[in-house]
Amino acid sequence: MNLKIAVLPGDGIGPEVVAQALKCLQAVEETFNHNFAYKEAAVGAMAIDKKRTPLPDSTLSLCREADAVLFGAIGDPKYDNDPSATVRPEQGLLKLRKELGLFANIRPVKVFPSLIKNSPLKKEIVSGTDFVIYRELTGGIYFGEKKLNKAGTIASDLCEYSEKEISRIAHLAFKAAKSRRKKLTLVDKANVLESSRLWRKVVTRIGESYPEVQLDFLFVDNAAMQIILNPSQFDVILTENMFGDIISDEGSVIGGSIGLLASASVGDENGLFEPIHGSYPQARGKDIANPIASILSAAMLLEHFGLYEEAMAVRQAVDKSLEKGIVTPDLNAKSQYGTSHVGDFIAHNIVDSEDDFNMNDE
Ligand code: IPM
Ligand code: MN
Repeated sequence: MNLKIAVLPGDGIGPEVVAQALKCLQAVEETFNHNFAYKEAAVGAMAIDKKRTPLPDSTLSLCREADAVLFGAIGDPKYDNDPSATVRPEQGLLKLRKELGLFANIRPVKVFPSLIKNSPLKKEIVSGTDFVIYRELTGGIYFGEKKLNKAGTIASDLCEYSEKEISRIAHLAFKAAKSRRKKLTLVDKANVLESSRLWRKVVTRIGESYPEVQLDFLFVDNAAMQIILNPSQFDVILTENMFGDIISDEGSVIGGSIGLLASASVGDENGLFEPIHGSYPQARGKDIANPIASILSAAMLLEHFGLYEEAMAVRQAVDKSLEKGIVTPDLNAKSQYGTSHVGDFIAHNIVDSEDDFNMNDE
């Protein structure tokens, strides 16, 4: 298969982890005879530094022309505590999502058996966790009208949703549930918010076309509690933009490291694949960031194009690194292995899964 991939490493540890995902995609090309063409472009704080905008037009057009976008991370602390900053790195990602129409953000939360001991939660609670969050990504409070009065003393952000925005992601979530354990939980705040009541109405109606899927509702505050009390009760969670942002970070701690979780953002035409973690600026350039979330994002990219065997080879190579303890220090404080080392190990195991490659023997 020929694929054009736009590569947007971004800020902080983004470039380091994306480099490892690229090693893995190249290993897939070699092993399965594909031909992927990569083109890199600027986004985020580094784009502001170079081109004074977090999403240069050239980056956006590269992404539009590409079959998929492989994204690193975005954000820089120099913007975080400056309320007067008018240009922020995050705007680059938000605009990219909106412009590419990436309305569904898919975030799987699955616990690797070899890492249960890393979880801050008890083993009995964590084991068996396997759910996926469908987070609406181009609507809601993130994109509603923003206001600040002249005196700078009153501010507001509008949370608005249309039936169309709800139904297109609801269909994706129901289809996912149908192919999984047939359970869908809508997370909302329908006891308070009008927009949530619309979500319930639309999702309930759509649910009638998926009679094999059991539909439940949970208020977001209760959901926040249930996700750490009993995560294995969930199969597919469907929710709006900001609730999804919050509960997916919560979900990410279940498995022991946020450095393991990948995501796909899809729309009718484009797909963007990125780790759910941020730019982790303190770790930048230190070769300690966990590359697995970025590598698993590349696996989701392959699955998006129906390359299931290829994605499986990537996932098995990741499993092997975890089983053999070829991991970064976030997973084992005593680990001697760095970002690049772990990337090499995983890429090598994609090329030849028979070969018991062990970096210690080098
Ligand atoms: C995420 C991030 C983004 C979001 C930020 C960087 C704008 O937290 O992808 O979850 O809030 O969506
Ligand atoms: Mn987030």
